[in-house]
Amino acid sequence: MRKLTYFMAASIDGFIGAPDGDAQFFLRHADEEFFRWLASDYPETLASHGRRALGLDGLPNRRFDTVIQGRRSYEVALKEGITSPYAHLRQYVASRTLTESPDPAVEIISSGPAERVRELKREEGLGIYLCGGSRLAGELREEIDELVIKTYPVVLGSGMPMFGAGFQITDFTLKSVRSFPNGAVVSTYSRTTAR
Ligand SMILES: NC(=O)c1ccc[n+]([C@@H]2O[C@H](COP(=O)([O-])OP(=O)(O)OC[C@H]3O[C@@H](n4cnc5c(N)ncnc54)[C@H](OP(=O)(O)O)[C@@H]3O)[C@@H](O)[C@H]2O)c1
Repeated sequence: MRKLTYFMAASIDGFIGAPDGDAQFFLRHADEEFFRWLASDYPETLASHGRRALGLDGLPNRRFDTVIQGRRSYEVALKEGITSPYAHLRQYVASRTLTESPDPAVEIISSGPAERVRELKREEGLGIYLCGGSRLAGELREEIDELVIKTYPVVLGSGMPMFGAGFQITDFTLKSVRSFPNGAVVSTYSRTTAR
């Protein structure tokens, strides 16, 4: 069974972006050492245009072969004219409003993303990268097997929560923690609550 991993950047106080979702300001924490780690451990989480710019185009996938994101997260790339942001992965975008995919490499999931994820999990292959954002993570909370939280040393006070969902206690077990000289901490958790 393939795993669904929610891999995201967050502030110390657990927000994945500004109140409007903007998360660009996290990038200033991604220094050379951090990028080296990303490229070696999670190369597939780097978007195609970033990989190209860094000369990392040919990196093989290590953990994921599929990505799923919400329409509003996909739009961040779309606004830059990028229709296939993770060309090295099978790409799914959840949306009820995008009736036609802007790119043949991107499949739209117009309803039941949790059900679709359960189907994808039953397929052979590497893991499934849940890229975000908050709302889709909230919708898929029950399906998340693993969390990889890149916590950057910043407090926001308010912002976009990691999960756009109601209160519910879901236990996770800490598997590993890695800290970086720039203050970034990457924590990996696996789900402990029985479904
Ligand atoms: N810090 C990080 O690592 C990180 C990672 C990713 C994204 N982000 C940020 O997150 C922000 C976006 O998050 P968000 O919570 O606003 O939006 P989102 O989760 O990316 O997308 C929400 C959209 O997904 C679609 N969707 C959700 N549930 C669905 C369902 N059951 N069936 C069909 N479609 C469904 C809907 O699209 P329609 O409205 O088209 O129906 C909904 O508006 C972005 O601004 C981005 O910067 C941060």
